[in-house]
Amino acid sequence: MKVDVLLGLQWGDEGKGKIVDVLTPQYDIIARFQGGPNAGHTLEFDGMKHVLHTIPSGIFRDDVMNVIGNGVVIDPVIFQKEVDDLASLGVDVNPRLLISRKAHLILPTHRLLDAANEKEKGKKKIGSTLRGIGPTYMDKTGRNGLRVGDIFRPDFKQRYDQLVKKHCGLLSHFDFEYDLSAFEPDWLESIERMRGMQVIDSEHWLNEQLDAGKRVLAEGAQGALLDIDFGSYPFVTSSTTTSAGACTGLGIAPTRIGEVIGIFKAYCTRVGSGPFPSELHDEVGDKLREAGNEFGATTGRPRRCGWLDMPALHYAAMINGVTTLCMMKADVLGDFDTVPVCTHYEVDGEHVDKLPYVVDEGTLKPHTQDMPGWPGDQTGVRTEEELPKTLVEYMAYIEAKIGSPIGIVSLGPNRLQTIIRK
Ligand code: GDP
Ligand code: IMO
Ligand code: MG
Repeated sequence: MKVDVLLGLQWGDEGKGKIVDVLTPQYDIIARFQGGPNAGHTLEFDGMKHVLHTIPSGIFRDDVMNVIGNGVVIDPVIFQKEVDDLASLGVDVNPRLLISRKAHLILPTHRLLDAANEKEKGKKKIGSTLRGIGPTYMDKTGRNGLRVGDIFRPDFKQRYDQLVKKHCGLLSHFDFEYDLSAFEPDWLESIERMRGMQVIDSEHWLNEQLDAGKRVLAEGAQGALLDIDFGSYPFVTSSTTTSAGACTGLGIAPTRIGEVIGIFKAYCTRVGSGPFPSELHDEVGDKLREAGNEFGATTGRPRRCGWLDMPALHYAAMINGVTTLCMMKADVLGDFDTVPVCTHYEVDGEHVDKLPYVVDEGTLKPHTQDMPGWPGDQTGVRTEEELPKTLVEYMAYIEAKIGSPIGIVSLGPNRLQTIIRK
């Protein structure tokens, strides 16, 4: 069997959690392959709304195993809180969750380093979620990190102390005050709890499951435009958010990748700093934020809003090898008579239809084309046949430009507000 990958094609928050939850009944295993608690994946069903950060979005369904792959970074405190929150909803996580021995641990000092770095950057800050993601991946590639498998070593505490000492040395170079003792006891207690969970060599397990005919869906976090290589560097996250990340983050060969499901909003949002060519700085942007309830699921920050950016979407689809598209939040545009789409940019008077290396607001002008909107409330639409003609035309335009079909349209946050197209 092959692994299908579901990932974001924009700057994150496209609605990955919702669609993974919708698709989970078609799979035996849901596996996260990168990122960490910088992610906030929202699921809504049965009158309940729940946000997951580290745990895969298949966790609510019976008979499905969930895997936190080696490419993920885990903050044990946030993770145990997620486990407890799920327990209070009646979900016993332990029997249905496997954690890779090779996943890296976020230490309290990684979070402090993240905050110190951002403070020092001042106006040039990345707008990080301050979850310690960058420093943890730096320790991973710098070959200093602690991994989940290390918690079972007799000298784990010494290893931890050694790394903390190193971090404190680094922190002393910043104008930054902190009190580590406020975080350490919780962290160590959460590690203790993790020792009682199912920690495995997930790359072996996953490949064996595939050999046995099990169906696996890899759940991405963040989005292609936040990718460490292909995002708007340095305003990116520190992991490979593209389909290639599913291989390295799970131990799956490229030949074992099946469908690549790329999710995008019918418009664009971004939270944090960095280039956003089609951003709306006016009241139209505010209207989109309000209509789409565009506030971060992890940090609560208002998301920047703008129109759909075709060159950026094309780029994201290309680097991911997208086979199916999934369009989210089409209902949010029900307040607009016309829906502009960014078709290309103008840079120094030149027509540019590829995302350029430098995206500078001063020199790059987005060009938009007005598309007829689909005014009205679409949140009750349940079948493809009921979709407004103009919305179908909007999708046909995108399909033609990107060269992949839109297999799923989402018209509201609830599980039921989803149309799987024929
Ligand atoms: P993720 O990080 O990609 O999983 O996305 P988030 O959960 O951070 O953000 C998506 C937000 O949009 C959440 O609040 C969802 O409940 C909501 N949402 C998802 N799909 C739709 C949709 O089709 N319409 C509307 N109005 N909201 C949606
Ligand atoms: P999900 O999985 C939206 C953004 C941050 C910041 C940049 C770097 O919910 O789509 P980091 O904390 O990774 O060092 O922050 O990336 N960012 C996200 N934006 N959705 C996310 O995840 C994000 N994870 C990180 O806002 O600009
Ligand atoms: Mg999110």
